[in-house]
Amino acid sequence: MDRWYNRSMSLTLDLTCLVAGGPQGAVGVDPADLQAAESAHAAHRKSLLDKRAGGELGFFDLPDQQIDAIRAFADKQHGRFENIVVLGIGGSALGTQALHAALSPALHDRRPRDISRPKLFVIDNVDPVLVGGILRAANPATTLYNVISKSGSTAETMSQFLLVLEALKHTVGDHWQQHVVVTTDGEAGFLRPFAEANGLTTFAVPGNVGGRFSVLSPVGLVPGALMGWELDELLEGAAHGRERCLSEDFRQSPAAMLAATHHLLDTKLGHNVQVLFPYSHKLRLMADWNVQLVAESLGKSRNGQGVGPTPHGALGATDQHSQVQLFAEGPHDKVFTFLRVLNHKDEVVIPAPPAGLEGLSYLGGKTFGQLLDAECRATQLALTEAGRPNCLITLPEVDARSVGELIMWLQIATAFGGELYGVDAFNQPGVEAGKVATYGLMGREGFEAEKARVEGKALSNPSWRIA
Ligand code: PA5
Repeated sequence: MDRWYNRSMSLTLDLTCLVAGGPQGAVGVDPADLQAAESAHAAHRKSLLDKRAGGELGFFDLPDQQIDAIRAFADKQHGRFENIVVLGIGGSALGTQALHAALSPALHDRRPRDISRPKLFVIDNVDPVLVGGILRAANPATTLYNVISKSGSTAETMSQFLLVLEALKHTVGDHWQQHVVVTTDGEAGFLRPFAEANGLTTFAVPGNVGGRFSVLSPVGLVPGALMGWELDELLEGAAHGRERCLSEDFRQSPAAMLAATHHLLDTKLGHNVQVLFPYSHKLRLMADWNVQLVAESLGKSRNGQGVGPTPHGALGATDQHSQVQLFAEGPHDKVFTFLRVLNHKDEVVIPAPPAGLEGLSYLGGKTFGQLLDAECRATQLALTEAGRPNCLITLPEVDARSVGELIMWLQIATAFGGELYGVDAFNQPGVEAGKVATYGLMGREGFEAEKARVEGKALSNPSWRIA
């Protein structure tokens, strides 16, 4: 065990309600199947370690990176900007959004303007309402833009960058370079040469780290340093998670156990919808980040056959009043992973009710944390009694360490998932067709044939249209 960790600071995983014959009843992983998965663990682990040793899967090594340059850059910006605006999409946006929700104070961006505590906005779409809105909400003169694109060519991010460049030149003239920091691949794409030619500060996404595995690279760490998140703790937590998940002992590896049980529930029992269900406002966007991680990594064609789970997100207690009806009584196609937090820190006590509201006296004097925790346990119990397989990840609290560890668990579980499904978890060929069609429709040079092909394709037939 690492020097600084004791067990009470680590995450725990409880799979009791996933195994057949558990409190949820017969629907669950057959222990014999799990035994077979255990026998395959050494080979899957070796395959991942071999790829890592061969220079692939750079995400494993991110906890060990030096972050002095990122820190020095952030220190120099301190007190200069009211807003940090991230331009990025997919893996270049979702992790930062999840970390911001987890590690910045709640409702941080609704606070009054304060140059010592910038707001963070992540612009991960090209909807004109959003893009126009951010230019109005964040004055370019007091904004630092972090352009993040691993490929350095993604149309959504590049179009935002063109807009920001123009706005900056208009607002701050020759000083525009001081308002832009670029995070991109060491070589590929349009961004790197442009940044170098214009003397912009740049940080590199390692070539062997894919977008959705890049949250612990400069992709998430540059905004993190600017926002003052505890990056050492984040990386220490991730290193600890890596150590646990790469355990030779299958039953001691949270990632291997998560991957194997979920794979068996999908492929043997048809429970292919995987719901990540945080009971924590701060962890609410981890579910969105995980959706992309799992969907792009495991949703693949294998020998012409589509495989992979469908990831989904829910939020406790909010979704008890929205999705839990479906979860409890709808199709038996789901598996739930609850995220429970033991210490919410910012405790708020529910006051005793005044005369006339005596029926609410059971709430008076309890904390909101107690209420949220009771709802988490109650929902797990209700779904268990409804025969729905589920498991529980418990975090001691939502801090940088536990979030770093959770990120590593989910990333390594996804990597093990690739081994189990027999797919390459690190490519995304299904995303390319849409990108290429967009280039064609937008008239990018070299994509003329695609333009003709796409424009000639009728996606609408008058007999099926209601106007
Ligand atoms: O996970 C991925 O690889 C993708 O979701 C990318 O992050 C996304 O397409 C954005 O790509 P880029 O960072 O190259 O702009």
